[in-house]
Amino acid sequence: MASLILFHIIGLLLLLSNTPFLSSSSPASFSPPSVLNPGSSLSVENKDDFLISPNGVFTAGFYNVGENAYCFSVWFTKPLQDKTHTIVWMANRDVPVNGKRSELSLLKTGNLVLRDAAQPLPIWSTSIINSQESAQLVMNNTGNLHLQYQDSQIIWQSFDTPTDTLLPLQPLTKDTPLVSSRSSTNRSSGFYKLYFDNDNVIRLVYNGPRIAGIYWPDPKITAWAAGRSTWANRRTAMLDLSGHFVSSDSLFFNTTDSENQSMRRLTVDIDGNFRAYSLDETRGTWEVTWQAIGDTCRVHGICGENSTCSVVPGYGRKCSCIPNHIMINQTDWSYGCKPEFDTTLCGNDEDYFLHFPNFDFYGYEARFVPNITLEECKKVCLGICNCKGFHFNFETDGYFSCYAKFKLINGFRTVSSNGSMYLKAPKSMASLSKSKNIVQGDGLICSQKLPTIQLDRAYEKNPKNESVKSLMIFTYVFGALEIICIIYFFYRTRSQSTTRQGYHQAATGFQRFSYAELKKATNNFSTEIGRGAGGIVYKGEFPDKRVAAIKVLTEFSNTQGEAELLAEITTLGRLNHMNLIDIWGYCAERKHKLLVYEYMENGSLAQNLHSNELDWGKRFDIALGTAKGLAYLHEECLEWVLHCDVKPHNILIDSNWNPKVADFGLSKLQDRDGTRNSLFTRARGTRGYMAPEWLFVNHPITSKVDVYSYGVVMLEMITGRSPASDELSVESKGRPDSWVKEKMMEAGGKHEWIQEVVDLKVNGKYDERKMETLIMVALRCSDEDKDARPTMSQVVDMLLHIEEDSDYSNNNI
Ligand SMILES: *[C@@H]1O[C@H](CO)[C@@H](O)[C@H](O)[C@H]1NC(C)=O
Ligand SMILES: *[C@@H]1O[C@H](CO)[C@@H](O)[C@H](O)[C@H]1NC(C)=O
Ligand SMILES: *[C@@H]1O[C@H](CO)[C@@H](O)[C@H](O)[C@H]1NC(C)=O
Ligand SMILES: *[C@@H]1O[C@H](CO)[C@@H](O)[C@H](O)[C@H]1NC(C)=O
Ligand SMILES: *[C@@H]1O[C@H](CO)[C@@H](O)[C@H](O)[C@H]1NC(C)=O
Ligand SMILES: *[C@@H]1O[C@H](CO)[C@@H](O)[C@H](O)[C@H]1NC(C)=O
Ligand SMILES: *[C@@H]1O[C@H](CO)[C@@H](O)[C@H](O)[C@H]1NC(C)=O
Ligand SMILES: *[C@@H]1O[C@H](CO)[C@@H](O)[C@H](O)[C@H]1NC(C)=O
Repeated sequence: MASLILFHIIGLLLLLSNTPFLSSSSPASFSPPSVLNPGSSLSVENKDDFLISPNGVFTAGFYNVGENAYCFSVWFTKPLQDKTHTIVWMANRDVPVNGKRSELSLLKTGNLVLRDAAQPLPIWSTSIINSQESAQLVMNNTGNLHLQYQDSQIIWQSFDTPTDTLLPLQPLTKDTPLVSSRSSTNRSSGFYKLYFDNDNVIRLVYNGPRIAGIYWPDPKITAWAAGRSTWANRRTAMLDLSGHFVSSDSLFFNTTDSENQSMRRLTVDIDGNFRAYSLDETRGTWEVTWQAIGDTCRVHGICGENSTCSVVPGYGRKCSCIPNHIMINQTDWSYGCKPEFDTTLCGNDEDYFLHFPNFDFYGYEARFVPNITLEECKKVCLGICNCKGFHFNFETDGYFSCYAKFKLINGFRTVSSNGSMYLKAPKSMASLSKSKNIVQGDGLICSQKLPTIQLDRAYEKNPKNESVKSLMIFTYVFGALEIICIIYFFYRTRSQSTTRQGYHQAATGFQRFSYAELKKATNNFSTEIGRGAGGIVYKGEFPDKRVAAIKVLTEFSNTQGEAELLAEITTLGRLNHMNLIDIWGYCAERKHKLLVYEYMENGSLAQNLHSNELDWGKRFDIALGTAKGLAYLHEECLEWVLHCDVKPHNILIDSNWNPKVADFGLSKLQDRDGTRNSLFTRARGTRGYMAPEWLFVNHPITSKVDVYSYGVVMLEMITGRSPASDELSVESKGRPDSWVKEKMMEAGGKHEWIQEVVDLKVNGKYDERKMETLIMVALRCSDEDKDARPTMSQVVDMLLHIEEDSDYSNNNI
């Protein structure tokens, strides 16, 4: 019996010693060295075998990259919120070693060698031969792992062979390109590369198995037009500790937090974008502080031929086949899509074109014709045998150009460009695809669950060990069974909702809070900070000092199940824009339904409108930021979201006076109970800010209702008059825009009216021309006819133009 118990214990210990999360946590009493001396080695099997930099920030050791697969790596010692580590360098990213008997040894000759148990030759080495002196391996405070002689002369350093990450003070040179990882689970070399090109310019290139191409800087324009210089005689670039990036090709940027000292890195991510990150140490997350490409669909290669790319906020990119085409390889979008129809598209006058507004496919022009009409462009494409379609673009010169394409690659949706794609299709498909006027298909790039690496390399056959091995396997299996039993009983004793919670958390990516937790954080809902249609908002503080705004949703107490609420909130959680409020999590326990948001120090626009803090510059920035947030909701999201209650109370202001739109998406939530077929059955919104079409049953509700409300908010910011207050309705029969228009008419073409309508209580000067344009935009937005109102992205464009114009006029003075 005693031996049986002993046997169990051995089994358990063996199992535990191989469980990665236990072996990677460092022991408390023992502090690992930062230096490896000549003649010694680090073993993959010994969990204490790693080097830590003197400041504790970086660790070098064997990192588990898959089942029985290890890479010798350098990573940030402190784990992130999700318990993962951020790897900054790898010696053998493409050839992981076995989890048994693999070693990194520093030879007396100064060479550093990585050996795998099963391989006679080293997997990796620093290739230093016949060095006269022996050297030490040092894990430096900067994250540089280097070999140095006694006199500090450096003979090898990891900074010279970067993988996908550049640390501050690590130079990027002509010999040290960065190469992305394959995927989030496969850390071997991927297809995206950041490098100095032959003309001395830093570029990003996609070099895939089927397609290749440079995508940054924008290949449509020259390096000079992109602000780069080709004249440098050296090729080097570096990020300093405070977030200033300087490159020999005149690429300069500052990270958004550039005056702060924080841990930083620059990484070529698996989606092909090049980003700067800073560590938010309190939350344990990396925050993006700069990125090369704003619209990640401009990165080439991810969606193959005959497919298009669109961005799903929070998830990344999504590929879709163009109509009448199907995916070639169900697991890999880079193969693209093939036609479902017979492809004899040659010179057939019967062919017709499918229209895709706001789409573009980059490159592969068979013919380019400037200044042409749509009909002529169609003829051009019909006349070319292999023309697959054309891009019809409105150029800045004031005419349309025709780009006839012989291949459809790098397709993407774009709201900023003013062009359309027309795809050629055989007449026979016309009846089938009449309804398909949007690009169809599915497949989130990151939803593909990639398998982890499994090394199937055999260990050296050793007959003596064979029986030991089978005994070990036996004990392992036994131990594993035991642990499973223990875990099973442990969980059974806990309530079911706990396990469900774990599942939801993993599925949605944001946190599920318990009601008790939120009750405690808000001190039993004591500090009310706002009240809206959906519910009451309280201020709360979590034990980790994070301050949150917690909204108790009063309207859906009983009607909705957690799964339904979650489905809706997940959509909101995916929205991610600097001018939209961040949702951290939710709570759904019986009748309690709550949402947890980030807290805004400066409260809402409504609270600030009549304070002296908001000068004209800030007001303009708030107008612009709010427009950007709404434009994102309306146009950049996959599921278009209408806000339906834009008003100063729902525009919150952070500590830097940036606006963030709050309370979006709730209108959709509210409509769930019973009224599925018609999305909007009753008018919603707030008196004074509601578009006129809400009052008419037969008028469709579109994103223009938000444009209207936005226009009213803008007028309120300019004039200081609330559309909902009685003071105004006495003076001017209701609508704020009619009051402004009246003043305009009275002035009869002279400019005095501007001074009259502008809020005199606001401090600071304003540019009269800029103000006039601002008022005009606001009036257009609050037009009674919804078709006369611009879209939110047009508003953003107009406001940006005001800024440029006034900069220009200032320069002229
Ligand atoms: C090691 O770190 C120090 C700062 O702690 C830095 O000055 C030095 O240049 C680094 N050495 C190498 C080889 O990176
Ligand atoms: C970055 O910041 C430095 C000073 O902090 C400033 O001199 C420089 O102009 C900034 N560069 C850019 C591109 O904004
Ligand atoms: C800089 O750091 C301070 C304190 O850590 C923080 O309050 C501030 O927001 C940071 N500034 C930026 C631009 O990130
Ligand atoms: C589909 O792609 C996967 C991954 O690239 C590949 O292993 C597989 O062979 C492909 N299948 C076909 C039918 O081409
Ligand atoms: C893309 O579609 C065209 C016809 O629309 C077809 O000729 C071509 O072969 C397709 N590409 C691939 C990779 O199947
Ligand atoms: C475009 O074509 C029209 C008619 O063919 C011509 O009148 C016009 O000048 C052209 N515009 C430009 C910018 O070349
Ligand atoms: C976009 O195209 C339309 C014609 O379809 C044109 O009237 C409009 O001026 C263009 N806008 C821009 C910003 O080029
Ligand atoms: C990881 O990518 C490499 C190619 O870079 C490939 O050989 C390997 O099989 C991949 N592993 C998995 C599990 O897909």
